[in-house]
Amino acid sequence: MKPDFPVPEHVAIIMDGNGRWARRSGWLRLRGHEGGAEAVRDVTEAAAEWGVKHLTLYAFSMENWQRPQAEVDALMRLLQRYLKKELRTLLDNGVRLQAIGRLQDLKASVRQALADTEAKTAHGKAMTLRLALSYGGRQEILDGIRRLLAESPPDRSIQQEDLAAVLYDPSMPDPDLVIRTAGEQRLSNFLLWQASYAELYFTDVLWPDFRRQHLLAALKDYHGRVRRFGKVLENDPAVHPSSS
Ligand code: IPE
Ligand code: IPE
Ligand code: MG
Repeated sequence: MKPDFPVPEHVAIIMDGNGRWARRSGWLRLRGHEGGAEAVRDVTEAAAEWGVKHLTLYAFSMENWQRPQAEVDALMRLLQRYLKKELRTLLDNGVRLQAIGRLQDLKASVRQALADTEAKTAHGKAMTLRLALSYGGRQEILDGIRRLLAESPPDRSIQQEDLAAVLYDPSMPDPDLVIRTAGEQRLSNFLLWQASYAELYFTDVLWPDFRRQHLLAALKDYHGRVRRFGKVLENDPAVHPSSS
């Protein structure tokens, strides 16, 4: 199973529905997050194999800090376990790991585990896997503006490129496709600046059930989209249906 069409450069995923997946079987929410880690492995491997260059996963939002402390702690422990367990898979697949977000909010041991994995996978050439952790799109824009104000003379006119250059990872291209699982149709503060022209794809599949075949379906759907970026296109299939 693999795409027989070009794949987008950057796919971003709002991994939702872990709690519902667990509850459906009468389990604790944590078991859903553990199930979610399986989905992360399969999707990461498939994306790297299929030529996706950037995969960004929304793993923990700024708003998620408001969850019960026990769940937050469990998610952080799971993250550390994931980093340890998946290092081999990341290296074998040429995947470079990168974290984005207000990482200073994370516990020192979690920050250390992230920094270690980033360093060990730094040479990965196939794909960059970005984990958005303690991440909020509004906070990212605000943090960028604060940096700009601190760095540049106040009378300088600020351009889009200036702000883009002070976001958490300026080397990250804008996402082409944003996927959200579990039937919700919202961004929940994810990549607000960068997703301004992303194609959106929603599926009812709960994240722990999401596998490469679901990713393939999303990529296929994306392949059929017409990205106009506000322009009028010659031979637009929607305007000239017979020409396609
Ligand atoms: C997504 O699953 C994982 C995180 C937000 C960390 P949820 O935990 O939000 O699962 P639901 O939405 O309650 O089912
Ligand atoms: C979004 O999921 C955040 C992550 C996937 C990390 P949530 O489950 O937290 O979002 P809401 O609360 O339904 O908007
Ligand atoms: Mg949710």
